[in-house]
Amino acid sequence: MNTEITIRRPDDWHLHLRDGAMLKGVLPETARHFARAIIMPNLVPPVVTGEQAGAYRERILAALPEGMAFEPLMTLYLTEGTEPADVAAAAASGLVKAVKLYPAGATTNSHSGVRDLAKVMPVLEKMAEIGLPLCTHGEVTTAEVDIFDREAVFIDTVLDPLRRRLPDLRVVMEHITTKEGVEYAAEGGETLGATITTHHLIINRNHILVGGIKPHYYCLPVAKREHHRLALRKAATSGSPRYFLGTDSAPHVDALKEHACGCAGCFTATNTMPLLAHVFEEEGALDKLEAFASLNGPAFYRLPVNEARMRLVKHEAAQVFPAKIFTEAGPVTVFDPGFPVHWAVEA
Ligand code: NCD
Ligand code: ZN
Repeated sequence: MNTEITIRRPDDWHLHLRDGAMLKGVLPETARHFARAIIMPNLVPPVVTGEQAGAYRERILAALPEGMAFEPLMTLYLTEGTEPADVAAAAASGLVKAVKLYPAGATTNSHSGVRDLAKVMPVLEKMAEIGLPLCTHGEVTTAEVDIFDREAVFIDTVLDPLRRRLPDLRVVMEHITTKEGVEYAAEGGETLGATITTHHLIINRNHILVGGIKPHYYCLPVAKREHHRLALRKAATSGSPRYFLGTDSAPHVDALKEHACGCAGCFTATNTMPLLAHVFEEEGALDKLEAFASLNGPAFYRLPVNEARMRLVKHEAAQVFPAKIFTEAGPVTVFDPGFPVHWAVEA
């Protein structure tokens, strides 16, 4: 039985850091374990231009505690007004590593997102030409489509037609939650990647709804049935280069989670790596953890892998994680897997 494992330092290919006091509070939780992260642009107002991404990057670096190393990989929020030339310049300078597509209304702060894909086609054509990845929030927003079906319908009605029209466009299916997502990514070839969150490997929809509503398990895309969770586990632990870690760690203060209209998002930055070690061990796949957390993401984004290493150790005693972190914006509840975790990241 493995009681420790050493892997290259991981990266997080989908992260929400927010801004101001929240940024200051949550950034150390990620920087402690991760070398780099793809930073989501859904601030209020969103990060739309290269100039805004540059300023946000500076704010992130300014919030980083002394002595911590972390590289934010910036993204732009795609709107119907986005200029192809601005995107190309921001990519050419090395500042911007991806553009994020939010269908308007799909999730937190997505009202400036895209209503009509035809309007952003010149930007997408430019991205296909220069090889800049498009990160997709893969859910349709049509009122008639059931929330549990929105990812599968997005694949059939938006993603697949888009990839047929622009076969060179490099696409990341963000935070896949379904067997359909796993299967589509598996067949996609080198232009397609898929991120998987920590929490979707652990919870299914029962965790949100059985025995009382659990707001801290509510995120978007919403967790699905158990067979989908099992498909995600199989994909993440397969070693296939299509799948990599994107935690989608999405902090909201408790007052807005525990609310009549609670915000979507699970905060997993603090304990993701121990939780992943637990999951990969359960699946008999500890030897695939490095591919998922540290190798497949850089390969897709055409970035070097990290040279530093991380050691994860399994202890006899269950490890204690903070239930909350206390930011100047308010307390944020850390994702509780609901089972004892014996793994810890060692210095
Ligand atoms: C994210 C957030 O809070 O910004 N919420 C979430 O449930 N994942 C937005 C998103 O990535 O969908
Ligand atoms: Zn997200």
